[in-house]
Amino acid sequence: MLEQDIKKVLISHDEIVVAAQQLGAQLTHDYQDKNPILVGILKGSIPFMAELIKHIDTHIEMDFMIVSSYHGGTESSGKVKIIKDLDQDVAGRHVLFVEDIIDTGRTLNDLCGLFAFRQAASIKIATLLDKPEGRVVEIEPDYTCFEIPNEFVVGYGLDYEENYRNLPYVGVLKEEIYTR
Ligand code: PRP
Repeated sequence: MLEQDIKKVLISHDEIVVAAQQLGAQLTHDYQDKNPILVGILKGSIPFMAELIKHIDTHIEMDFMIVSSYHGGTESSGKVKIIKDLDQDVAGRHVLFVEDIIDTGRTLNDLCGLFAFRQAASIKIATLLDKPEGRVVEIEPDYTCFEIPNEFVVGYGLDYEENYRNLPYVGVLKEEIYTR
C-alpha cells in the first residue's frame, strides 16, 4: 500500500476538489470570451488539470508541454529542458500555465520568458501548490490553491522517482523513503 510510505496527509482529496471548484469559478469569470489555452506542464499537472477544467464554464483549449527540472531526485537541478513543445502558435493568445507545484520558480520563469518572446497576448500561472520558501527566482503564480511548507510532498501528480503520482491527496513522504 502506498499510504504506508506517507508521513502525513497535507491536503486531502476533498480539499483539492473544493479548491478546484473555486478556482474554476474564478477562471470562468476572468477568461470569459478570451478562449485561453490552458498549458499543462507534464507530467505532474495531469490530475489537477483534469479536475480544474470540469469547473470552468467558458470556452477553453488545452495543450501540454513536457519540461524537466528535477531529474528524478528531491532537489532542483536548476536546468529546464523542453522535451515536448506545444502543437500550436501562441502569438496573440491568452495562455494560462497549469502546474502542480511552483518550487524554485525556474520552470515557470523560463516558460514565461519564452512565451513572452512568442508574443502571447497574456501569460498567467495557476498552480495547485506553491512552496514560497523554495524560490530562487522572483515569480509569483497568479492563482494558487494551497501554499505549503518546505517539505518533500508527493501525490496528486507529484512524484518521487516517478512513483506516488496516483495518490488522490498530497502527502509528506517519510524521510526513510528518500534517504535509503
Ligand atoms: C515539477 C513540477 C514543476 C516543476 C516546479 O516538475 O511539476 O513543473 O517541477 O519546480 P520549480 O519551480 O523548482 O522549477 P518535474 O520537473 O519534477 O516533472 P514532472 O511534472 O514530470 O514530475
